[in-house]
Amino acid sequence: MTKKIKKNYKIETLTSHSGLSPDDNYGIVNPPVYHASTILSPTMKDYKTKKNKKYTYGRNGTPTTDSLEYAIAKIYDAKGAVLAPSGMGAISNSLMAVLKSNDHALFPDCVYGSARRFVIEEFPRLNIQFDFYNQRDLEDIKKKIRKNTKVLYIESPGTYTFEIIDIKKVVKIAKDKKIVTIIDNTWGTALYFNAIKFGIDIVCEAITKYIGGHSDVMLGVSISNKKYLSSIKRWRLNSGQSVGPDDVFLALRGLRTLPLRLEKSYKNSKKIASFFSSLKEVKNVFHPALNNHPDHKLWKRDFSGASGIFGIEFQKNISEQAVEYFADCCILFGKGASWGGFESLMTMMDLEPNRSLKNSYLPDGPYLRIYVGLENIEDLINDIENAINKMRKKYRI
Ligand SMILES: Cc1ncc(COP(=O)(O)O)c(C=O)c1O
Repeated sequence: MTKKIKKNYKIETLTSHSGLSPDDNYGIVNPPVYHASTILSPTMKDYKTKKNKKYTYGRNGTPTTDSLEYAIAKIYDAKGAVLAPSGMGAISNSLMAVLKSNDHALFPDCVYGSARRFVIEEFPRLNIQFDFYNQRDLEDIKKKIRKNTKVLYIESPGTYTFEIIDIKKVVKIAKDKKIVTIIDNTWGTALYFNAIKFGIDIVCEAITKYIGGHSDVMLGVSISNKKYLSSIKRWRLNSGQSVGPDDVFLALRGLRTLPLRLEKSYKNSKKIASFFSSLKEVKNVFHPALNNHPDHKLWKRDFSGASGIFGIEFQKNISEQAVEYFADCCILFGKGASWGGFESLMTMMDLEPNRSLKNSYLPDGPYLRIYVGLENIEDLINDIENAINKMRKKYRI
């Protein structure tokens, strides 16, 4: 049984203490990792009545999954949390818990690519209507709200181009029209942007990123207050999803050091973003913590930190091959998707297939998404400087 934390501790205390119950486990600090499908009852009568039975079958939850769900709900100061086998699982669970046929939903044009694909490929079959809106244009949102609009989905900052939404105004628009708000808060996390406190109904996070933190686990979570919690649980149960106990163990372990890792990644990324801004080959750096980011003021108003992922747009005259060569010369930056781990990463992006609206920002030069991990900052800058010099030499820039 997870020990309830009653006091309103600060978040770094909660990431250390919530979800633990040593008194029930011989004083052992971390909760046991229960591998379970079958859970026995002492008699057939007990089995039939489920009397005194909190746990009935592995898929329905175990003390291990309870302790992670409790810990995450606690750091958001929310009623509850529902785990999913991936971040995308949490997003689809949250949407499917609320939407039904003939409903309409709104999505930002800068939404995470797989969420976009889920909407485009699955919603028509389910007879759910949808539109994309421009995250920086509240009038566009108002214009696109219909009588049957049920969900306003938010991702802030947006994927790839890092637009920040005016959350206070958008929540008000949605509440006035009784529209459910769902946010992908993987970037901000509970530490830097507690979306529940801003009045959002359902918060999704890819645990895969910062909570996991070590590039070795796929998990997601939906966090909510009472009103939508039972619907999310119902959908998760009926759609047959469960999460592996070893993954939950890794996520619980990651949670304990989340504040330290996040802060280091944030600070490192801000320094690397500033360094990229100083390069003549770089036209734009999209990092909300930089003063010249178009939504910097909103970020400062609502967020208490930034994640380590951002984008850079090269000048138009720099070729794709030159940027590919630059990336390959960056030894410390792995070439691969994802973020939130200990190691720095780079991915080259084509944004056009990920945008539907004509007025969404599209870079005209090559685009790199950079994730900055926990390495020594001087080593990272030297790595980039060395790679830029090699690119300049080879491509005569
Ligand atoms: C912003 C964002 N949300 C959600 C996800 C999905 O997480 P997962 O890969 O665990 O499904 C990702 C993955 O890259 C992401 O970047």
